[in-house]
Amino acid sequence: MREPIHPLDRMRAAARRSMPPSAWDYLMGAAVDEHTARRNSSRYAELPLLPRVCVDVSSVDTSCTLLGTELAAPILLAPIALQKLFHLDGEHGTLAGAAAGGVLPVISMESSVSLPDLTDAGTPFWSHLYIQRDRGLTRELVAQAEEADAGALMVTLDSPVAGARYRQDAAMLHLPDGVQRANLPPATAGRLTGGYLDPSVTWADIEWLVANTQLPVVGKGVLHPEDALRACAAGAAAVVVSNHGGRNLDTAAATVDCLPGVADAVAGRVPVLVDGGIRRGTDVLKAIALGASAVLVGRPYVWGLATGGAAGVRTVIDLLHDELAAAMALTGAPRLDRVDADLLTIFSVRGRPCR
Ligand SMILES: Cc1cc2nc3c(=O)[nH]c(=O)nc-3n(C[C@H](O)[C@H](O)[C@H](O)COP(=O)(O)O)c2cc1C
Repeated sequence: MREPIHPLDRMRAAARRSMPPSAWDYLMGAAVDEHTARRNSSRYAELPLLPRVCVDVSSVDTSCTLLGTELAAPILLAPIALQKLFHLDGEHGTLAGAAAGGVLPVISMESSVSLPDLTDAGTPFWSHLYIQRDRGLTRELVAQAEEADAGALMVTLDSPVAGARYRQDAAMLHLPDGVQRANLPPATAGRLTGGYLDPSVTWADIEWLVANTQLPVVGKGVLHPEDALRACAAGAAAVVVSNHGGRNLDTAAATVDCLPGVADAVAGRVPVLVDGGIRRGTDVLKAIALGASAVLVGRPYVWGLATGGAAGVRTVIDLLHDELAAAMALTGAPRLDRVDADLLTIFSVRGRPCR
């Protein structure tokens, strides 16, 4: 087989060699036949760009502000659980790499480093939450995020139960010694999936969460435009178009196909973010063109973490950032507010399956 050409594909191959096969299958696995996970990224490559020429792009500005935080590029690192499975530094490496790259990490509730241990450095981050069956524990997790000075609380909306993850289950049913969910009580901390999810969560619980924290609440995991509006009505400060990286419901729509419908419905009430399958700077550009304020990148930064700790995470961020800047120059869009649906061909913009 030919060596991969793209640096991120090379890094992905190196990451696979760097970790036990069980950790790789946990990271890369998705639900059932993994159609959605594949489609999340293949759909970006299928969307043709329609560049504009003879625009002065001698200075390209990729920076933006999201809920009060300045970012060098419209990129966040998605919440990914249990990062000590991939590198000894775990979430410390992610936090440091994100700070070096000028972007914002979202630290999973299922972090393998506890939030108080992680956030001493005063580096900007957002905290992530699954609402717990035990609302008292949920309140404690929220208080912990507030005390750690998180910029926002990202609550997952799309996981009443875990998806059927056959690849993951075949590889790993229990966490290896030395890796645990450091923010959770021991009863739930050691199980690989499921124990920390509450299938009874409804919009009333999101309203309850918004009323019980001073932090802006970001709702992660909407695909349907009406759910995005429900999240806004519940008080969300931003929404994330996400299908959990294809790990929950296989054959769920690719996120890029749902983004325009959600962005239209939300109509600027709150920022719309998107994740799933972002692998190239042009993917970031297309997401912004279709109405996203920023994207979240998932598995790729873990390839960086696995191969180089914080420096590896930064390499991934820099790569996507540089590619985004080049793509903006090559499409005649020197600033993010010049990136709009005109950059995509009429064919791709009109195909809006999620209405
Ligand atoms: C190993 C792994 C663990 C994850 N853990 C969480 C989590 O704790 N909470 C959550 O909301 N999403 C979690 N996700 C989903 C990501 O936040 C994100 O939605 C997804 O990875 C984006 O897709 P991408 O990996 O194709 O970029 C996880 C994803 C992976 C691959």
